Amino acid sequence: MTLTPALIDELFRHAGRSPSAHNTQPWVPRFVAGDGHSPAEVVLTVDPLRTLPAGDPTFEDLHLSMGCWVESFAIAAAEAGLSVETTSIRGCGSALEVRIQIGEGTPSSTASTVAADNGANDPWPPFGVADLYHRQVDRGPLRRDGAAFASALRAVNSALSATGGPLHSTGAGSSAELVEIPDQLWKPLQGRSSLYSLSDPAIFRETLDWLRFDSRDPRCFRDGLSANCLRIPPMIAAAAARLNTASLRPWIGSLTSAVLTPVGFAQRIRASLRRRALSEDSGSGEGLPPRTTAPHRVILTVDDALTATAGGWSEDHDRSTRDDIVQAHARAAQEIEVGRTLLRIWLLFDRCGLRVDVHSELKDCPETKAELSAFLARRSLVESATTEIPSPQNSPRSRRRPIAAFSVGRSTSEVPRSHRLNT
Ligand SMILES: Cc1cc2nc3c(=O)[nH]c(=O)nc-3n(C[C@H](O)[C@H](O)[C@H](O)COP(=O)(O)O)c2cc1C
Repeated sequence: MTLTPALIDELFRHAGRSPSAHNTQPWVPRFVAGDGHSPAEVVLTVDPLRTLPAGDPTFEDLHLSMGCWVESFAIAAAEAGLSVETTSIRGCGSALEVRIQIGEGTPSSTASTVAADNGANDPWPPFGVADLYHRQVDRGPLRRDGAAFASALRAVNSALSATGGPLHSTGAGSSAELVEIPDQLWKPLQGRSSLYSLSDPAIFRETLDWLRFDSRDPRCFRDGLSANCLRIPPMIAAAAARLNTASLRPWIGSLTSAVLTPVGFAQRIRASLRRRALSEDSGSGEGLPPRTTAPHRVILTVDDALTATAGGWSEDHDRSTRDDIVQAHARAAQEIEVGRTLLRIWLLFDRCGLRVDVHSELKDCPETKAELSAFLARRSLVESATTEIPSPQNSPRSRRRPIAAFSVGRSTSEVPRSHRLNT
């Protein structure tokens, strides 16, 4: 297939169907035509106005979203008969730059051309453009389907171990794993993490800024989270639209935070009493068989080899040490690769008739993230005690970091379609 501006536009439009945190669509792709000396490439950068500095201070979700775009682009390009290869990932956060080389013909089989390599050895199903449009996040009630979920989970984890996880090309030498979380652990954590996001005025204000409840606002059909997608009834959305104005937003954020702070305190006390009761009662309570009709709860975990600087990375390089910067860039590259994998996981679930409902607050809230990490550590200890041959996943020494959290189940109603900038 010959590279033409029309084809590139079409590929960008398909890739634009990627999921992104708050539907911010932070990607800015630019096509650079090749000449006799250098091949054609896409230079992918970030629109700084489409980042979430309060809710995503370490840019983890930004990098994951950019990774989803890279993967969608690779899928669309492969279907058009083009090969793509990520040749460099530089910087992090708003200063991130990803270079993707495009060639005409069969892709080479390297770690960074995963999506394009839909050959016999690819452990992932051959995804196409239709899959990109079919996938949707569903925030309505999801119906549990044990059989479909079990086979999809097996397929995901065997694909992850066959490809060595998404971190080959970053040299991090670690692997990813999708882990099911018992609903009795998930439910209280979800409550506490939602409260965390609501009771921080800056995070709450930022979220309000991406809510699109007023259908007279042209942005309503371009980006952000619509009342429809959030499954908020029209009357409540209309009232919320009247309140959610630029002048009232700071007040709403502070007021909500003040009201919710005592609730958070009470919840923490209840959680610690519940933890104590569980440990006296049944060890952890996590070995109990599920007695629930709730959807399946999962987290994507990666080795915690690269730790974020506390409080996020400073964009002010004078204040950061050289090591911090190198570490931040390595971590960004790792998260881009994880983002590519995350999209493949969601597409694979979609192929199995399952949709996902994302709960990033669970891994963003420090307290619930620590509890998820503790669960992973306990699980890893139990597995290493019962497994003769240790693997990276079950080694008790490998600290696992939850990087994405979502529920999985069958849609029970039609899912409203989210909007995009370029459609
Ligand atoms: C890294 C990442 C984090 C996300 N976090 C959340 C979340 O915490 N809550 C949520 O409802 N959706 C979350 N989403 C889903 C997006 O809001 C969703 O992809 C976007 O609104 C577009 O909708 P669509 O995926 O149905 O096309 C996340 C998506 C990504 C890629």
